[in-house]
Amino acid sequence: MLFLLLVLSVLGGGSCSSPDVQCLIINLEYLKCTWSHGKLPEVNYTFSFKFSPMRNYMNCSRYLQEGGPNIGCIIDKPDRFKKLYINLSHSNGTRVWDQQFDMVNKVKLNPPHNLSVEVNRQNQELWLYWNHSVKSNCRENQVMYRRNEESQWQFSTLLPADFYSLPQASLKSQYEFKVKTRVSNTCGMSEFWSDWGPPVWWYPAEQSNQTGPELGVDFQHKDRDAVTPGRKVLYPVMEHLPPRGHGVSV
Ligand SMILES: *[C@@H]1O[C@H](CO)[C@@H](O)[C@H](O)[C@H]1NC(C)=O
Ligand SMILES: *[C@@H]1O[C@H](CO)[C@@H](O)[C@H](O)[C@H]1NC(C)=O
Ligand SMILES: *[C@@H]1O[C@H](CO)[C@@H](O)[C@H](O)[C@H]1NC(C)=O
Ligand SMILES: *[C@@H]1O[C@H](CO)[C@@H](O)[C@H](O)[C@H]1NC(C)=O
Ligand SMILES: *[C@@H]1O[C@H](CO)[C@@H](O)[C@H](O)[C@H]1NC(C)=O
Ligand SMILES: *[C@@H]1O[C@H](CO)[C@@H](O)[C@H](O)[C@H]1NC(C)=O
Ligand SMILES: *[C@@H]1O[C@H](CO)[C@@H](O)[C@H](O)[C@H]1NC(C)=O
Repeated sequence: MLFLLLVLSVLGGGSCSSPDVQCLIINLEYLKCTWSHGKLPEVNYTFSFKFSPMRNYMNCSRYLQEGGPNIGCIIDKPDRFKKLYINLSHSNGTRVWDQQFDMVNKVKLNPPHNLSVEVNRQNQELWLYWNHSVKSNCRENQVMYRRNEESQWQFSTLLPADFYSLPQASLKSQYEFKVKTRVSNTCGMSEFWSDWGPPVWWYPAEQSNQTGPELGVDFQHKDRDAVTPGRKVLYPVMEHLPPRGHGVSV
């Protein structure tokens, strides 16, 4: 009898189980909590939150909606070093779920931007640079790159600064680079990496005044270090290249 009751309560609990709420701090700018995860919730939940147990809950002021019910909430200026208390309830108030989250390590940054490649011909090095809105001493980075399209992706070690140098580069080859970043140990290590940012390419000079290899875009290459070999110079490498077939001139 007891067993049956247990089974029944488990089964009964299934449909009313606590909604799976996931919260992330996006780019250290805002907090995003979601509870739909691909499928529309059957219930239109009401979301409230607070950053201190002593306070009153505040109602969500920016719901994420997708064709009807609320599927998430955006909270501006979160304090990630304080515990997040959430209260999700049926909009008719009949059921309430309270949960607590530690947000310190739940940060997902935007990918780095403004990638550029420089070459040091004398040392056969390619240098990759990028920018990010979060200061660099709060982040660590990783670069992935491949020589030619057929090659395996290679991954750098974790990089404390916003540049990477690829030694022993084959300057007769094409290289493709991508970068990702995350909050580092110095600022409360995040469990999450950013997505990989858009790629940037380096082309050998021989290919540069042809149409970019298989890219269908015009690409002008100015070999500015021809005059002073070995000096690091900025190459006009394509940034944030659109998908193939969308022609742009650089
Ligand atoms: C939140 O919304 C509920 C229902 O609309 C309302 O009763 C309550 O006063 C609101 N709370 C705050 C802090 O605004
Ligand atoms: C869900 O509730 C929100 C307010 O929290 C309301 O704006 C929205 O219209 C509701 N959606 C549905 C499908 O009831
Ligand atoms: C959670 O929200 C519901 C509906 O807004 C409210 O009735 C309930 O008191 C809240 N729970 C807590 C612990 O404040
Ligand atoms: C509240 O909503 C739930 C889910 O839609 C429903 O099962 C329940 O009957 C509602 N309660 C009231 C008092 O309307
Ligand atoms: C991106 O690069 C451009 C030109 O190289 C520069 O003007 C701009 O300030 C850079 N953006 C950031 C966020 O550093
Ligand atoms: C962007 O990166 C370049 C190259 O590393 C650097 O010179 C510049 O200061 C950076 N801009 C910002 C806003 O950090
Ligand atoms: C680049 O273009 C110029 C003029 O179109 C041509 O003379 C030269 O041979 C080309 N260089 C290469 C490496 O293809």
